[in-house]
Amino acid sequence: MISQGKGGANTQSGLRFEKQMKDVWQLPSIAVWEKKCGKHPTQKPLKLLSRIILASTIEDQWILDPFTGSSTTGVASKLLNRRFVGIDKELDYLNISLSRLKEIENKETFNLYLSASRQPTFNFPNGT
Ligand SMILES: C[S@@+](CC[C@H](N)C(=O)[O-])C[C@H]1O[C@@H](n2cnc3c(N)ncnc32)[C@H](O)[C@@H]1O
Repeated sequence: MISQGKGGANTQSGLRFEKQMKDVWQLPSIAVWEKKCGKHPTQKPLKLLSRIILASTIEDQWILDPFTGSSTTGVASKLLNRRFVGIDKELDYLNISLSRLKEIENKETFNLYLSASRQPTFNFPNGT
């Protein structure tokens, strides 16, 4: 269970609920920079997975995505200090996943992506 603290802060995850969360979430569509490591046909926006993870887990918990594709769940898990296991039947997608996870081993990229996943809007120099 996730508890909501004073002022709308989720005390376990750090997610802020400024207003009552709606049934329909409006988020920007996937950005160009998110596809830098290769293209997956149904890749999800990092911001969407980050929001789901913040709303449903706490730090250090394990997250399993058995249909991981390009591992947006994995990237969001790592940015938010969760443990991650991903499975996919397509080697090409697993290679994209590995590149994406490798990419955030760079501290600067990690911080950039973390910020992008938490901000309501974020503009990257080489994409929207
Ligand atoms: C909707 S995509 C996941 C996209 C992912 N959320 C992302 O952001 O990139 C579903 C994935 O499940 C994989 N898949 C489908 N059937 C599978 C199976 N039986 N075992 C493992 N992976 C499977 C597909 O290869 C595909 O990459």
